[in-house]
Amino acid sequence: MTKHVKIFDTTLRDGEQAPGFSMTAGQKLRLAKTLEALRVDIIEAGFAAASPGDFDAIHTIASEIKDSTVCSLARCNEGDIRASGEAIKPAASGRIHTFIATSPLHREFKLKMSKDEIVTRAVAGVELARSYTDNVEFSAEDAIRTERDYLKRVVEAAIKAGATTINIPDTVGYTTPEEIQDLFTFLTTQVEGADDVTFSAHCHDDLGLAVANSLAAVRGGARQIECAMNGIGERAGNCATEEVVMAINTRKDFYNLTTGIKTEGIYAASKLLATITGNPVPRNKAIVGRNAFAHESGIHQHGVLANRETYEIMKPEHVGVSTDNLVLGKHSGRAALKDRASKLGFELSDNQLQSVFVAFKELADAKKEVFDADIEALIMGETVGTQGPWSIDSLYVSAGSDDNRNPQASVKLKHEDGRALAAINEAAGPVNAVFEAISEITGHPLHLDSFAVQSVSQGKDAMAEASVQVSTKFESYHGRGTSTDTVLAGAKAYLDVINRIERRAVRQKKIAAQH
Ligand code: KIV
Ligand code: ZN
Repeated sequence: MTKHVKIFDTTLRDGEQAPGFSMTAGQKLRLAKTLEALRVDIIEAGFAAASPGDFDAIHTIASEIKDSTVCSLARCNEGDIRASGEAIKPAASGRIHTFIATSPLHREFKLKMSKDEIVTRAVAGVELARSYTDNVEFSAEDAIRTERDYLKRVVEAAIKAGATTINIPDTVGYTTPEEIQDLFTFLTTQVEGADDVTFSAHCHDDLGLAVANSLAAVRGGARQIECAMNGIGERAGNCATEEVVMAINTRKDFYNLTTGIKTEGIYAASKLLATITGNPVPRNKAIVGRNAFAHESGIHQHGVLANRETYEIMKPEHVGVSTDNLVLGKHSGRAALKDRASKLGFELSDNQLQSVFVAFKELADAKKEVFDADIEALIMGETVGTQGPWSIDSLYVSAGSDDNRNPQASVKLKHEDGRALAAINEAAGPVNAVFEAISEITGHPLHLDSFAVQSVSQGKDAMAEASVQVSTKFESYHGRGTSTDTVLAGAKAYLDVINRIERRAVRQKKIAAQH
């Protein structure tokens, strides 16, 4: 049996469909390029029939991505499969992933279909998908809670119909490592035609076992793992790409398997996803959390200084976490910045380099020491955050515990069209006063759902990264801002949302004018 395990990344499909993780087509393309650079074997780019936006995003990704297979999800019905077939058409290598539920609960209550009807639909779906591509994946949704003999029957029928990958999802995150290993051993040895297909695991994390279950499935013969960066996905999420890849890599002695992943790009991919979706990675998250390679206690520090392996099972640089921390200062030039960015996993275009360089010079003036984390935050701010039409001209706040005075904010904003407007507001807190002043100037009354600030590097003058989640009557948005001043970072994050709203309105107007 082959020693290679394919990595099928579903960040852009299962991950993106989770509440709070939606992405625009442009953001999806950016992430797809990062996943391609990471060398994932298959990128599941979306669900073509879900919406015209999803279709377009898959089509664009299929046109641009050359080194990974681009896949679209489809239910086992004609409309979905045809939409997927069209969406992946431009791909250098495309796949249709079609699925139908097989468990008793889903048969009876969701599909209201008999066992025979489901087999017929599965076969028809796979056959239709094969008329678009010879790379067809079939999933038996809720396979884990499906009777074994029936699962075997469905899988055999899908293989006969032309499926080349058979996915066995633990849709509800119910299984355990022992159980799933046993199931995969059964399927890979007992199913007729098993040798002609790749078996795949798709595990959800409801019991916190998604990574362990995926590894156990591999022990049972699976040679594809479906996973998502930072473990995002429906409910508690999917198997985390970075965790399962590094487990296979670090424990090669045990699994004797390989993936094609360029692990040095893991950290940058995780950070990009967190920035795009506005969902920071928890500090203690395995592999990509801020504490993943930090050694705090004296005993641990002592051990690490003597020999890193006393408390480190992986080298931080193997996942792209830099250890030579103090990097650039105000005398550093463009080439040094470009080189540092590249070491951190970011290949900047000339335009991006220019805007990051300007921001870097401002930061280097405000801050004595510029750390990798500061540079990362700048890059994310300049390349992911939106620019304009509004920008902050000046901001001043007063705050404190004086019973006779409320915190006050004085804000001046500039608009691309030449307007310069100001407002002074009082509120219960200084950040609130700033947000209200910005809303008043721009004419966007927003509801603030959450506001969070964290420092990105060390020291009293560390850069702060602020993120806001706000909603209008119809939509929810997140915004992000960075600065060495916490309140200013918050103001930039709030304005980032308003800029997104205004730019979107301009785009929509343009589209309407074209039709
Ligand atoms: O969890 C699941 O069953 C899925 C399928 C569509 C593969 O995401
Ligand atoms: Zn899923």
